[in-house]
Amino acid sequence: MLEVKDLSVSYGAISALGGISFKVEPGSIATLIGANGAGKTTTLRTISGLLRAKSGSVTFGGADLTKLPPHQIVARGLCHVPEGRMIFSNLTVDENLSMGAYLQKDKERIARDRDYVFSIFPRLKERLTQQAGTLSGGEQQMLAIGRALMGGPKLLMLDEPSLGIAPKLISTIFEKIVEINRSHGITILLVEQNANLALEISNYAFVLETGRIVMQGQSPELRANPELKAAYLGG
Ligand SMILES: Nc1ncnc2c1ncn2[C@@H]1O[C@H](COP(=O)(O)OP(=O)(O)OP(=O)(O)O)[C@@H](O)[C@H]1O
Ligand SMILES: [Mg+2]
Repeated sequence: MLEVKDLSVSYGAISALGGISFKVEPGSIATLIGANGAGKTTTLRTISGLLRAKSGSVTFGGADLTKLPPHQIVARGLCHVPEGRMIFSNLTVDENLSMGAYLQKDKERIARDRDYVFSIFPRLKERLTQQAGTLSGGEQQMLAIGRALMGGPKLLMLDEPSLGIAPKLISTIFEKIVEINRSHGITILLVEQNANLALEISNYAFVLETGRIVMQGQSPELRANPELKAAYLGG
């Protein structure tokens, strides 16, 4: 479904990705794990068209995305929940959700997508008129995911959804990610530093170290891998 091939990205003279390749299969949950600065966010931002690759390619459903602008990539069904959530703090929950549907003209479709978001996150429905900046961290993450769902994704990319969220809510968010994948068959590419949780809910995983993929495999197998355990799973 998504294929990243030999992707290299630099910030000026500094190389952030040194030729990474991976595939995400339709209907799966794939995860990219790695420490601070490994290049996880850079990978997602390049797939989304927010950064330009120095070399390599990104294809989605057979189409080359590498040179497309971000809005055309979203229009093809590839939606991105950025690190740090980036919701519009001064807008209400309702308005934030509407922003997620900005490319959508079909009113009935928008209404259906809203109902779907509320079925996943009932709490958002209770807080429609609340200013988004006053939501709790976990609620803001729900809103960021809900907003991306309003874009009608075939593939949803999530950048560290557990970051800065109370431990109790983290498991809720991860359960919701699985629900989104199972109920609507939306393919998920998850980026996480929380390798334990990411490996628990994903089918397949890639380990990124300083801009290179150093290990990959079925998530249950990686969870049992001693090398990975020592480096990422707290022994
Ligand atoms: N705008 C930028 N200018 C220069 N260097 C950058 C920029 N953004 C990221 N980098 C560098 O690129 C490398 C990869 O960064 P990236 O944000 O992709 O890592 P990450 O895996 O998402 O890390 P984290 O887990 O901390 O979010 C890092 O060395 C970082 O310092
Ligand atoms: Mg990051």
